[in-house]
Amino acid sequence: MSSPVVLISEEEIQTRVSELAAQISSDYEGAEDLVLVGVLKGAFIFLADLSRQLTIPRTIEFIAVSSYGNGSESTGAVRLVMDVRGNIEGKHVLIVEDIVDTGHTLNYLMGLFESHRAASVKTCTLVRKAERAEVEISVDYLGFDIGDDWIVGYGLDYAEQNRTLPYIGVVSPDD
Ligand code: IMP
Ligand code: MG
Repeated sequence: MSSPVVLISEEEIQTRVSELAAQISSDYEGAEDLVLVGVLKGAFIFLADLSRQLTIPRTIEFIAVSSYGNGSESTGAVRLVMDVRGNIEGKHVLIVEDIVDTGHTLNYLMGLFESHRAASVKTCTLVRKAERAEVEISVDYLGFDIGDDWIVGYGLDYAEQNRTLPYIGVVSPDD
């Protein structure tokens, strides 16, 4: 595989993350029991940067789901690999995702937290591939819209590679 070509620079990401953190801090001002739920593994870096810039009280949970094998083909089915540890009932849940592709993962997670009787469920994703949507998802906080490219870096991988790049780059899996 050839090396990733920069699509979103480190500086652009950091600027956008700060903007999102400011918006979220203002929207949840005064809200009790905000819990950020990071979706493993891809959201771990985004969640770390975003959560440290919030100016409001919040707790952190993680959840792990799987919808892909080690490649880039979506199966459509979402499997819960690891649930959150804490009790979600009555809490304001903000799901923090790396990327919305077909939308199946976020759709599944929103239903899951609603069935756990969260006080509210909102979504924050760093990246969205709008043209690939198979289910309509309302994204409350969006970093960037991109086209139909496979991206890596800033938490995102291709076959577990390139997660820790500071920028988001495009790879061509077929190379
Ligand atoms: P969805 O269920 O199709 O929306 O897929 C969402 C999940 O697929 C994301 O949480 C990622 O883990 C993975 N994914 C989709 N597109 C990409 C990409 O371009 N790079 C890395 N992971 C991706
Ligand atoms: Mg993910």
